[in-house]
Amino acid sequence: MAFNDLRDYIARVEALGELKCVEGADWDLEIGAISSITSLMDKPPALLFDGIKGYPPGWRVFCDVFNGPKRLAEVLQLDPSRPVMDWIRTIKERLQAFKGLPPVLVDRAPCQQNVFRGPEVDLFKFPVPRWFEGDGGRFIGTNDLVITRDPDSGAVNVGTYRVQAHDRNTAGIFADKGKDGRIMMERYWARGESCPIAVCCGQDPTLWIAATQSLPFGSSEFEYAGWIKGAPLEIIRGPVTGLPLPASAEIVLEGAVPPPETESHMEGPFGEWEGYYASRASLQPVIRVESIMHRNDPILCGLHRVRPHGGYYFNNLFSCALLWQQIETCGVSDVTGVWQMDGGGRMIFVIAIKQRYVGHAKRAAYVAMGGAGAYGGRFIVLVDDDIDPSNTKDVLWAIATRCDPEFDIEIQKGCWGANVDPVGILRGDVSTSRAIVDACRPYSQMATYPPLVAVSPELESRVRDRWGDVFEPF
Ligand SMILES: Cc1cc2nc3c(=O)[nH]c(=O)nc-3n(C[C@H](O)[C@H](O)[C@H](O)COP(=O)(O)O)c2cc1C
Repeated sequence: MAFNDLRDYIARVEALGELKCVEGADWDLEIGAISSITSLMDKPPALLFDGIKGYPPGWRVFCDVFNGPKRLAEVLQLDPSRPVMDWIRTIKERLQAFKGLPPVLVDRAPCQQNVFRGPEVDLFKFPVPRWFEGDGGRFIGTNDLVITRDPDSGAVNVGTYRVQAHDRNTAGIFADKGKDGRIMMERYWARGESCPIAVCCGQDPTLWIAATQSLPFGSSEFEYAGWIKGAPLEIIRGPVTGLPLPASAEIVLEGAVPPPETESHMEGPFGEWEGYYASRASLQPVIRVESIMHRNDPILCGLHRVRPHGGYYFNNLFSCALLWQQIETCGVSDVTGVWQMDGGGRMIFVIAIKQRYVGHAKRAAYVAMGGAGAYGGRFIVLVDDDIDPSNTKDVLWAIATRCDPEFDIEIQKGCWGANVDPVGILRGDVSTSRAIVDACRPYSQMATYPPLVAVSPELESRVRDRWGDVFEPF
């Protein structure tokens, strides 16, 4: 059943037994340290920090919104007892029937409970964490929504880009080249204008899923989030920017981003998701914050990583489902699974396919090169349909036993890299090469490939029936 807002979602996570409340942590490093350590656990809890040092009780920070399958299943209304590849298939099938649900404009919203303008604006009235010891400051936007409007088409974009709190009313924004929000900002700057912007730092989790997906330029993340939820989202018009703002947002900043040649500020570094400080502090655009609105006892959402462990934390199920759908839309049939390999983050995609003809699997890889997850991707691994792409050991076995590096690894150069990629940064060029690792049995040798060592299903069922206790875990 759809939930109402972030608070309702947190209550659901608590009911699932996946919420831990932490009292008395310091915004300076302790919130970051605790959530970093838990993020590496097998089953990371969601964390709600309260009683934060120097801040009033009730002014909270919520971390690890989805870092657990049950939590994600709750949001996406999926059956938690099913395997993850079934979830991805279900999302892909839903995507095929996608119909955006337009948001509903309302007059009054909880986010208007407290409004501050001009000299009253102070980003540090919130317990903005300094997440890691090597960070260049306090980052208010990590699990955020950055809302902009395209000056040409009027389309509104919602993307997740990091936002650093520089001083009371100045924030830094790091939107990488090629991101929709960045393109929109550049269009204003090209006219010598500032780009109106809103940043939401605590929101309905479905909106955050939408904001982190690489949706087609111009498509509405509000409609997408409403579709995920099965109910339209409520919005208000931003009093300063006129931008649509989620009514249930916890904290909303409104302002403008002047052209960088007019104003910019040293930003970062920030401990990024690949697990490195790849990009050093650099001059980046700033947001001149003109207004802050927040709910009573606001909840700031945060998300950061020491490295890309786990398969759920960046709601990668959607990226996998989107890529699967894109491959099918390009006419490539018989894909049986898509996964972002655990530990490799968005940099290693695995595609399983039932090969029907020579070149079949490669077609899927070429769609993946430029499709969902193209940003910062490094490897595309192709496996046969007997491999579960979400099973890392099976994928490695396929690579080890079906991929002959001399013939089966293909490299493409000059692909879209991330500005936080340690390899690209060192080279001084943030493009990346991409490898297709073809770990499928060669199609022409399918019939003659050495047979598998396996226990047949009939034999397995017979021995299980008779000696079931042997198979019980310790
Ligand atoms: C937790 C998290 C943080 C992110 N931070 C950034 C960031 O600081 N800058 C950036 O360019 N992309 C960042 N991204 C990736 C973008 O959110 C993603 O590429 C999204 O598709 C961008 O939206 P757009 O396609 O509308 O530009 C982040 C993603 C996640 C999940």
